[in-house]
Amino acid sequence: MSFVEYSEVIQDSDVAIIYLGHNSVMPVKVQHGAQTQTRYGVIRHSSDLIGQRYGSKVTCSKGGWVYVLHPTPELWTVSLPHRTQILYTTDIATITMMLDLKPGSVVCESGTGSGSLSHAILRTIAPTGHLHTVEFHQQRAEKAAEEFREHRVSHLVTVRNQDVCKDGFGVMGAADAVFLDIPSPWEAVGHAKAALKKHGKEHVHTEGVIPTVLKPTRTSTTVNTSWRFFSKAHRNASSLLPKIVSLSCCALFGMWNQSGSGLVTGG
Ligand SMILES: C[S@@+](CC[C@H](N)C(=O)[O-])C[C@H]1O[C@@H](n2cnc3c(N)ncnc32)[C@H](O)[C@@H]1O
Repeated sequence: MSFVEYSEVIQDSDVAIIYLGHNSVMPVKVQHGAQTQTRYGVIRHSSDLIGQRYGSKVTCSKGGWVYVLHPTPELWTVSLPHRTQILYTTDIATITMMLDLKPGSVVCESGTGSGSLSHAILRTIAPTGHLHTVEFHQQRAEKAAEEFREHRVSHLVTVRNQDVCKDGFGVMGAADAVFLDIPSPWEAVGHAKAALKKHGKEHVHTEGVIPTVLKPTRTSTTVNTSWRFFSKAHRNASSLLPKIVSLSCCALFGMWNQSGSGLVTGG
């Protein structure tokens, strides 16, 4: 099992998703001898999970049944332990498309938060891409790194425990895309620019930087601030087209260059 590769059969130390109903899914670490309590009774890992095929219907000790599913980023998003607000699949799909992510992409993101977006990015950029994710909260950074190991995607990601606004992403001129989900994205735009791949001498042509602000009431202030920042940061700011895209839970403010694919920021 890996979040970027499908396996047929459940094995010891896999992470499996227990599907109890449409609004009720839970992740379990599969371990010989372990048990998981559900409202339908106990699931015994050794007899009920290990060796069964993913997708199987498993009968619990009280006679109720559940499905055991192979993990995906989408199922992880609806079952992960929340440490922060998270991005959900509808928005993640739009972000993935706007950033033009694909296998082999090198991506920077901050903050890592609960890793909801990170898992989707990893599945998209595998098997040859890389994610550089920056989180300044130590426990969150450590927990995310632990989950990436358990989900067998750690070869695709570098977690840095630092302040992206002060210390940046730890990469220069390497990223195809940058995504910011922090309260003050404008403070990290300079580092985002430095992290992005450069084409030609001076130009920064990028797939995008999309900071988000989850509180709509802050959006207009942030948009103004970002615009001011960009006006200062780019001598050629007049060639950038402002564009606002509303997603279900965040407002993204984008600026594209004339070819429609340039630097994107927002709030
Ligand atoms: C809303 S959460 C990100 C959620 C994430 N996109 C997800 O889908 O799970 C924001 C995270 O950014 C982190 N953060 C805020 N400011 C930061 C900074 N300057 N540098 C690094 N991380 C920061 C916070 O600690 C928090 O974990």
